[in-house]
Amino acid sequence: MDFILYEADGAVATITINRPKALNALNSQVLDELDKTLDAIDLDTIRCVILTGAGDKSFVAGADIGEMSTLTKAEGEAFGKKGNDVFRKLETLPIPVIAAVNGFALGGGCEISMSCDIRICSENAMFGQPEAGLGITPGFGGTQRLARTVGVGMAKQLIYTARNIKADEAYRIGLVNAVYPQEELMEQAKKMAATIAKNAPIAVRNCKKAINDGLQVDIDQAIVIEEKLFGDCFETEDQKAGMGNFLAPKDQKVKVVPFKNC
Ligand code: CAA
Repeated sequence: MDFILYEADGAVATITINRPKALNALNSQVLDELDKTLDAIDLDTIRCVILTGAGDKSFVAGADIGEMSTLTKAEGEAFGKKGNDVFRKLETLPIPVIAAVNGFALGGGCEISMSCDIRICSENAMFGQPEAGLGITPGFGGTQRLARTVGVGMAKQLIYTARNIKADEAYRIGLVNAVYPQEELMEQAKKMAATIAKNAPIAVRNCKKAINDGLQVDIDQAIVIEEKLFGDCFETEDQKAGMGNFLAPKDQKVKVVPFKNC
């Protein structure tokens, strides 16, 4: 891979978009490599993924403007689909993904962060959908996910004005969950990932699926989705281990249950 770094450390994997000369902008090759990387994650071992960008200036500065500049209508639509397919794969990865946003998250960069389950960022992060200023619409899910993440009114304002916002404003509108000094960002992301990885993996996966699938349907159908995924947890070894530990005599309890993902 030329543009993607993948590192597994126990149950946590880190994917780094590594094209710092172009501020980690997403061209077709980056998207293809990211797609392959997602396919190759060992889901038996890895329980949480962190997505970040190489360097300390940019997470992802958007889709590659040079590559897009000469596209025809049909090619533009195909490029949108290419990005959307990869981002949807990321969004529906069975395990949680934390975006550690370490700088610019513009256009496709903001969009890829919104395909992750959780966003945290460094103090120098900047978010935005500058596409309207470039003569296009956000094309990798921005018109859909921004509205779902920060509400319709705020999403419309950000997209129509093409105004970039700093980390503190992103935090205020709920686009990120927390802001850290740059040097602490990865440590905090790893800490959160380790906390998630400690919990029962099947339960965590089912929580992700229940939330994601439930948000696509009305509340009556959503509750049924939850019931099914709740029921699925019973009779797993992890459920026996988790509840068994709670019910065990105090002197036999363990602090961290060794969940086996089965
Ligand atoms: N595409 C291609 N190249 C990019 C890029 C992008 N999105 N963003 C930055 N680069 C390149 C620059 O062209 C430059 O390359 P050279 O050194 O070869 O000239 C290099 O990265 C460094 O960038 P700058 O010199 O511009 O760095 P800066 O610090 O002065 O500015 C910036 C940083 C404000 C992020 C500026 O680079 C910028 O505005 N980038 C574009 C941001 C943008 O508009 N993103 C949205 C793209 S459209 C999109 O994403 C569509 C979609 O929804 C799918």
